[in-house]
Amino acid sequence: MALSKLPRRHWPSVLHFGRCQRALQTDAPIAESTRLFGPTRTKRDRNWNGLSHPHPIQSTTYRDQLCPRPIHTKAVLTSLASNNDNNTHTRDMAMEEKLQSVGFREWLAAAYPWTRAPLIVGAPMRVMSGPELAVAVSRAGGFGFIGPGEKPESTAADLETAKGLIADSGIEYPGPVLPIGVGFQIWNGNVDVSASAVLEYRPAAAWLFAPRHGQTDVDVWTKRLREASPETKIWLQIGTLQEALDAARSASPPDVLVVQGAEAGGHGRASDGIGFITLLPEIADATRGSGIPLIAAGGVADGRGVVAALGVGAAGVSMGTRFLASQEARIKKGYQDEVVRAMDGGASTARTHLYNHLRGTFGWPEQFSPRTIVNRSWEEQQAGTAFEDIKKRHDEAVSKGDAAWGPQGWTATYAGANVGLIRNVARAGEIVEGARDEAAKIIEALSGL
Ligand SMILES: Cc1cc2nc3c(=O)[nH]c(=O)nc-3n(C[C@H](O)[C@H](O)[C@H](O)COP(=O)(O)O)c2cc1C
Repeated sequence: MALSKLPRRHWPSVLHFGRCQRALQTDAPIAESTRLFGPTRTKRDRNWNGLSHPHPIQSTTYRDQLCPRPIHTKAVLTSLASNNDNNTHTRDMAMEEKLQSVGFREWLAAAYPWTRAPLIVGAPMRVMSGPELAVAVSRAGGFGFIGPGEKPESTAADLETAKGLIADSGIEYPGPVLPIGVGFQIWNGNVDVSASAVLEYRPAAAWLFAPRHGQTDVDVWTKRLREASPETKIWLQIGTLQEALDAARSASPPDVLVVQGAEAGGHGRASDGIGFITLLPEIADATRGSGIPLIAAGGVADGRGVVAALGVGAAGVSMGTRFLASQEARIKKGYQDEVVRAMDGGASTARTHLYNHLRGTFGWPEQFSPRTIVNRSWEEQQAGTAFEDIKKRHDEAVSKGDAAWGPQGWTATYAGANVGLIRNVARAGEIVEGARDEAAKIIEALSGL
């Protein structure tokens, strides 16, 4: 049907689809495909388009990323329908570009067919998200990640366990990849050992984090992991606009960017982090045309956070701290009790290397530091007590088991600023389904506005 015969409010979807078809028919580099995407240009777009993107469109899969299927979800139709016909075409396109994440959500659903929308990801948390947690999240229609282990070799052992759990789980997935992901920490990881685990077990995604030398290090890992398992998608967690731009401009761009906000538990940006509520839409604007979906992380513990993330342009949401209080987490009881007990994360958590050092962990790149629930060690440090004295008390407390945690405890309790939203230990599947259901109800309630 000719465009002019359609109601004006339906033009954006049709135009978008047409552009995608043209992009699919060309072997032009990304910059050319980007040009095909809509007339609206922002300052950021000009910056983006000014780049000579070195990565040609090489495969149908990659083109699919560039061209998510046309937008036709209820939310978008409602949104577009609410535009009256006097709106200009340019204004409709700008709204459509802002809703690019809706198309990405559909691409993610196709890439990870066992998942249900909105996509809830169980973040890789070092040691604490093991195979039981990752598989439980994926079984509930989320996307579970195994975290890095005590040593690089631990990942293969965890993947072997996960493979057995998946076989018994009833998760329906087409293969050839396992319906879980695995996280690697670049600065102290071993790329050879990691590539070998990915080659043997073929997880659906490999999540990279914490390079010492930025995108240069990320590129090395990306290439090695893609060589080992081309079907394994590369997810990269970043926490600043610059990191996102470096990734999108790279010759080996990630398949997915996880935008980690400052509220996040565990390691994140030490001094230049901000909440994803502002960071993610700015990154979405700046990387528009790159075809890379964004996942929001940091501070989300329930359906309210999920809706907030979707509202600012995320294609899905990653939760870490909430899953520390899951039955499947690989965590000590004293630690888990403290995550449930703590409130008011602005006051009860802080970013500090103190607990890394008390645990004997040194060498983290200076751009990162961990968020933790604070306790006696922190208070003593703030009061000026010497590190050696705190360390002595810390080590004594650790030998007492679960009493090492809590307000009178001394040991590391890495967790996010969202601890006040976490009030019980639940099955991981309940957490995933609860957040998804709550998000759907909120979206429905808001759609009447
Ligand atoms: C205890 C803990 C350990 C973590 N370990 C890792 C890790 O090994 N690799 C990683 O990429 N992110 C790690 N993270 C960060 C998560 O990927 C994610 O960014 C964060 O949990 C999201 O914020 P939230 O905790 O508020 O949900 C960790 C988070 C926590 C709480």
